[in-house]
Amino acid sequence: MMMPILEVASKTGSYPVYLGQGLIANAGRILRQQPFTSGKSTCAIISDETVASLYAEPLLESLRAEKFAPVLITVPAGENSKSLAEVGRIADRLAEAGLDRHSLIVALGGGVVGDLAGFVAAIYYRGLPSVQVPTTVVAQVDSSVGGKTGVNLARGKNLLGAFHPPALVLADVDTLATLPEREFNEGVAEAIKHAVIRDGRLLANLMVFDRRNAAQLTALVRRNLEIKAEIVARDEFESSGERALLNFGHTIGHGIEQAAGYGRLL
Ligand code: GLY
Repeated sequence: MMMPILEVASKTGSYPVYLGQGLIANAGRILRQQPFTSGKSTCAIISDETVASLYAEPLLESLRAEKFAPVLITVPAGENSKSLAEVGRIADRLAEAGLDRHSLIVALGGGVVGDLAGFVAAIYYRGLPSVQVPTTVVAQVDSSVGGKTGVNLARGKNLLGAFHPPALVLADVDTLATLPEREFNEGVAEAIKHAVIRDGRLLANLMVFDRRNAAQLTALVRRNLEIKAEIVARDEFESSGERALLNFGHTIGHGIEQAAGYGRLL
């Protein structure tokens, strides 16, 4: 039996985080161990075209092997997919495929897919369990945990959204191996953020970090997940101000990203 590396405390019930290598191929088995999948089979994997071409097949196979009935829905890769138009398109596909209140949503991808699919999960049938399968550094060290979901409006990033904590997070570090350097480094920026707000030793480790070393990569993601989980557990809905620490650098970053036009800068 595979064990989670941590449980994230949440007002809606705690959820497990699995981290390691080869987890996508075992996703079906891990999901079947969870009480929230009891009696459930229909599910949708929401992904982007790039990630789906790499990982949808093994994920579909592992779900089917455990008697899940998954459909795959893809969106174009990139920030422009974080839109209300895509939410509507995905919701129509879910309805066509017959997903109902007993179904599950699986987000397979980076931050864009996680936020978009998480938001669809928050509102379809007034809320379905969402399983986050993050495949980028930014999603594994940060956005897959904590329940922030949403899409962008022309006037600003993440202006439309909901807190919808995942039912489970499954971070397979093997997926980070295929990331182009620019996208890998985008996520390291969030690790630097965690280091600056919480852990000086993590900052020192980042200076000598080797992304090709799986053990180092796993340890890096794990430490970041611990920091994120600890802050989220104390201020899940960003009401005391503590979670605002996790926005360190984001306000200016979002402004620059919007001014440049979504899709140009990561
Ligand atoms: N990534 C910022 C937060 O989850 O609060």
